[in-house]
Amino acid sequence: MMEALDRLLAEARAELGAAADRAAVEAVRVKVLGKKGSLSGLLAGLRDLAPEERKAFGARANQAKAEIEGLIASRLTAVERSALEAELGRERLDVTLPGRRVAPTGHRHPVVQTLDDIVEIFARMGFEVVRGPEIELDYYNFEALNQPPGHPARDMQDTFYVDAEPLGDRQPASPVLLRSHTSPVQIRTMLRQPPPVRIVSPGRVYRRDDDPTHSPTFHQIEALYVDKRVSMGDLKWTIEQFVQAFFGKTFRIRLRPSFFPFVQPGAEVDMTCTLCGGKGCRTCKGTGFIEVLGAGMVHPQVLRNVGYDPEEVSGFAFGLGVDRFAMLRYGLDDLRQFFANDLRFLESF
Ligand code: DAH
Repeated sequence: MMEALDRLLAEARAELGAAADRAAVEAVRVKVLGKKGSLSGLLAGLRDLAPEERKAFGARANQAKAEIEGLIASRLTAVERSALEAELGRERLDVTLPGRRVAPTGHRHPVVQTLDDIVEIFARMGFEVVRGPEIELDYYNFEALNQPPGHPARDMQDTFYVDAEPLGDRQPASPVLLRSHTSPVQIRTMLRQPPPVRIVSPGRVYRRDDDPTHSPTFHQIEALYVDKRVSMGDLKWTIEQFVQAFFGKTFRIRLRPSFFPFVQPGAEVDMTCTLCGGKGCRTCKGTGFIEVLGAGMVHPQVLRNVGYDPEEVSGFAFGLGVDRFAMLRYGLDDLRQFFANDLRFLESF
């Protein structure tokens, strides 16, 4: 029987040494140590032995069992480690390779950055941000702003007209166009709510224009403040605060009389030239100032058009070109670069 035990042990060692995976090791365990395994089979013969032999054999069998259990445990560790190594080997992980870039990270377009920065300055001053549609009715874009059909001021803002399909039996109330400025949002906002109104409205606008300083699509921010006793002084102070917050404390503004049909009086606003700081250069034609926006006191007729009483309230409005501010901020001379979608240009911001 001792010989049989030795044979069993030798076999178990050999089979475990050859077991290549977890399942094979488990199979050997069941075969040798299982309830109906070969070791149990041998031990069944114990009762036929003389007490002396039985003791010696029992002790030997326990040793053998302990040895086999140890072998099983270490074999398991070994096959699991090599399975893991095989898997890592398949991945061919080379930690010395340079990292691969995840998707390239973009950033906001320089015009959008400028637009966001301007809006934020006005938001800090208490202006609410509202948006209007880019496809607009002639009524809001022109008529309610004191430019009836045939008004000569329409020529300066010739835009793109749209053949609008009627919606069911609903005909568009007036011709449909791509808005030529953000001023229609003034009308839409005032029609929606009673005074006081204090809004800025950023967005895209369209015109039939195309040269180094005019693109058929560009961006404006409209501002409107209507309340009791709003004055031209409020207008000037607000624009000055904004220009200084955006460009710096040394910047000055000045107002020149001008005409826009929806304001009275109307003004063009100039600010210190960004190129020469006010000394006078070619860009500012020696004046030290450059024109940056249109402004004025909301025309009484416009207030009446939206149901406000011009005896009760007054207001100021202005509209600024975002792209122009971006050009000034970054020192560019061709507006069209912004819309050419050349990544070499856009990535430099
Ligand atoms: N809407 C005008 C334009 O695009 C700019 C403008 C001028 C807006 C005077 C105003 C304003 O609100 O008061 O040329």
